[in-house]
Amino acid sequence: MRIAVVGTGYVGLVSGACLASKGHNVTCVDVDPEKVAKINSKVPPIFEIGLQDMMNEVIPSRLRATGDLAGAVRGADLTLIAVGTPFDGDLIDLKYIREAARQIGEALRTHDAYHVVVVKSTVVPGTTEDVVLPILEAASGKKAGADFGVGMNPEFLKEGEAIADFMSPDRIVLGGIDARTRKVMAGLYEVFPDADVVETTPRTAEMIKYVANSLLATLISFSNEMGNLSAKLGVDAVEVMRGVHLDKRFMPILADGTRVTPGMISYLAAGCGFGGSCFPKDVKALIAHGRERGAAMDLLDSVIRVNANQPQKMLDMLTKHAGALGGLNVAVLGMAFKPGTDDIRESPSLPVTQALIDAGANVTAFDPIARHEAEKVFPSGVRFEDKLEDAVSGSQAILLMTGWPEFRSLPGLLAERGDTPVVIDGRRLLPKGSVTRYDGIGLPG
Ligand SMILES: NC(=O)c1ccc[n+]([C@@H]2O[C@H](COP(=O)([O-])OP(=O)(O)OC[C@H]3O[C@@H](n4cnc5c(N)ncnc54)[C@H](O)[C@@H]3O)[C@@H](O)[C@H]2O)c1
Repeated sequence: MRIAVVGTGYVGLVSGACLASKGHNVTCVDVDPEKVAKINSKVPPIFEIGLQDMMNEVIPSRLRATGDLAGAVRGADLTLIAVGTPFDGDLIDLKYIREAARQIGEALRTHDAYHVVVVKSTVVPGTTEDVVLPILEAASGKKAGADFGVGMNPEFLKEGEAIADFMSPDRIVLGGIDARTRKVMAGLYEVFPDADVVETTPRTAEMIKYVANSLLATLISFSNEMGNLSAKLGVDAVEVMRGVHLDKRFMPILADGTRVTPGMISYLAAGCGFGGSCFPKDVKALIAHGRERGAAMDLLDSVIRVNANQPQKMLDMLTKHAGALGGLNVAVLGMAFKPGTDDIRESPSLPVTQALIDAGANVTAFDPIARHEAEKVFPSGVRFEDKLEDAVSGSQAILLMTGWPEFRSLPGLLAERGDTPVVIDGRRLLPKGSVTRYDGIGLPG
């Protein structure tokens, strides 16, 4: 199938590359000429494991990038919209979606063949039918259903594992305005014959994505609230959660006695908070959307509130151990919102680092991948290092903010050098007794 992907960020590029590797012909469109040039030169504009190899495989034979949206749409059977959908502080901001829909509609005005437009971006329920469809009709002068199809196909990939997730989908949700649209959408995913497919309406497809993200965010905030309480009660949240995880409804026991550890378990652990480009904005957008429609959104309100307070727990522990922060040498380990990605959007490291700068601490920082992104946020006030050992050298305190596996080497590194800074573990990555002075989220004070 010939596919146009409008918006070539994390979702657009990964989807485009994976669909091309499965044999489709893909044109990725972006308004950012630098991104377009990088992609055509096989340089990944983002970090994602396996992306470079996949780009080498499919460019230029089955994937190319362009700024010419109209040409890409007219040369395709199906267009995926994968532009950003930020939260504007009050509501979901649909300006990129509206603009993409308008441009696609204009391209369809002079396009005679039946075409299907599919929203892949995360949008609040009703957006595809009530916002995108009317814009497409107005801009094209054509009729949805008769001249073109409109669908919604949420994306469930996780940054850091995006290629693997896309190539082995656990579910494919196809929301279409009619059977003809859904048939074309199903044709796009025929290349994944083993995936469970949910065929539904666009509105239900939109809701599935929000409920899935809200549930995962709720598990995290629940774990954080329990972790904070555990610490106050003098018990270790890691031990508590381990006891909870062993419920066979969470970790089933197979016939041979071995345990299954579902991925969900990683959301049931206390830490310094969730971030990223999805959970915070999606939960806030759903709260706002629900409120607008008269629904009480009390639980999700609390999910956001608990999460917003977690970074401060790191600073509280630091102050408890180190006293005044002015002049203190602090190493911040991890800028990405989670390991495996260079995405720092809404990372808990950002408010913590800013607070340290504001308090006059001497901040060094290290992230294996996200340094270039973090430097854009902190052009001054932070000394970025390329090596873990250089970042922690001379530090009086270390804040472990992201669960990068390489940080597990920290105890050995400190022991070798005879350094004894206090290590405050925001991800409970290190064994409790592994460094001389240790504290962490969910640990009794
Ligand atoms: N990042 C994730 O892990 C993830 C996972 C699932 C779903 N989503 C959803 O997918 C959507 C995209 O997220 P992302 O992280 O890929 O965003 P992103 O910000 O990384 O990328 C969006 C891209 O769209 C481009 N763009 C904007 N308007 C355009 C236009 N009119 N024409 C062409 N290009 C345009 C931008 O230049 C940018 O490159 C969002 O709705 C997000 O919630 C993201």
